[in-house]
Formats: sequence, structure tokens, C-alpha cells
Amino acid sequence: MKGTIVNCLKELMKNKYGKEKWEQSLEDAGIKGDTVFLASSDVPDSAVMKVVQAACKNLNLSVSQLGDAFGDYWVNVYSQKMYRHYYLKHKTAKDFLMDMDNVHKIMTKSMKNAQPPRFTYEWKNDGTLIMHYNSRRSLVDFLAGLAKGVGKYYHENLKVVKLGSARIQVTFP
Ligand code: HEM
Repeated sequence: MKGTIVNCLKELMKNKYGKEKWEQSLEDAGIKGDTVFLASSDVPDSAVMKVVQAACKNLNLSVSQLGDAFGDYWVNVYSQKMYRHYYLKHKTAKDFLMDMDNVHKIMTKSMKNAQPPRFTYEWKNDGTLIMHYNSRRSLVDFLAGLAKGVGKYYHENLKVVKLGSARIQVTFP
């Protein structure tokens, strides 16, 4: 997975929980403390999963709680620095989420070795969207957290529910 995801987790943990928790999690995952995670660098998926597990243990959070913290930070802080234009392009959480498959496809096109998650969309009824998550990683908890972060960004009270390991349900107000 691209280093940008780990870098965001690092920033979140250092800022919100203290740098010791981050350093301990890296050590537990068997990653050298001075490793630099560039946006373009490739971090093996297994290493990312180990850091996530270690972070949950050290912060005493479930994967779902860490996914929520990550999603909020990625959407409302981290990605605002480099990817603000994607947010400004849309006026509602629905329009933004509906563009996410396209954004992941297009923006990673020129990144060597990128394997972005892909999404398909199914409307259960007028206000209820099922987002199907197609990825070989098991980060549906992060997907749910990211969708909640999008709701917060657009000041919409979304209801996000995880439906197993490859789907989330988003209800718009
Ligand atoms: C403008 C905002 C966003 C940008 C630029 C972006 C970009 C990226 C990039 C570059 C990766 C790494 C891909 C790779 O390593 O091959 C990634 C991973 C991911 N993105 Fe986004 N993303 C954005 C917003 C979102 C949102 C809002 C969601 C969900 C609603 C989402 C869901 C995910 C997930 C779950 C992953 C983890 C990798 C996986 O599960 O396969 N992203 N994103």
C-alpha cells in the first residue's frame, strides 16, 4: 500500500495520542523507527496490517474505533493539504462518495504499483446507499470511518453501518 496511508496514521497518532504510542506500534510491527513513509513508497500490506493491529493494542481501541479516528483525520486534516480540490469540487457527501471510485482510479493511474480500493454503488432506496468495497486488504473499518469523516466534512449527519467485510451502508439525512 502507498506510504501516504501509513504516514497519515503516523501523523494522527503522534498528534492525538503521543509519539511514544506510534514508536511502540512500529516496534511491535517490526518496522524500524526511522523509516520514512513517502506518498509514493510501497509499504507491504502485511506490514500495514501489523501496524494497525499494534496501534489498536497500544491505544486500547478496536479496529472500528481506530478506523473512525483515521477516517476523520484523513478527510478533515491530512488530505485537505494535498487533495483539497477534490472536496471543493463537490457540494454534498453523497456526490463526493459517489466520485470516490473514480478518484481512486484516476489519481493512482500514474503511481507505480498502486492497487487502490475500488467501489461499486447500489441504492437500497432513495436515501440509502450500499458501497461495495473491492480490495484485497481488509480495511472495511477504515472505509466506514472515512465515510463518517466525509459526513463531518460536509456537515451532514450520515448514518454509516458496516455490512460484513466488503460493504458499508450509508444513510443520508
Ligand atoms: C480526496 C480524497 C482521497 C484520496 C486522494 C484518496 C487516495 C487514496 C490512496 C492514494 C490510497 C492508497 C492506494 C494504494 O496504496 O494503492 C487510498 C487508500 C484507501 N482509500 Fe482513499 N482517498 C481519498 C478518500 C477516500 C475516502 C473518502 C474513502 C472512503 C469512503 C477512501 C477509501 C480508501 C480505503 C479503504 C483505502 C485503503 C486501501 C484499501 O482498502 O485497499 N478514500 N486512498
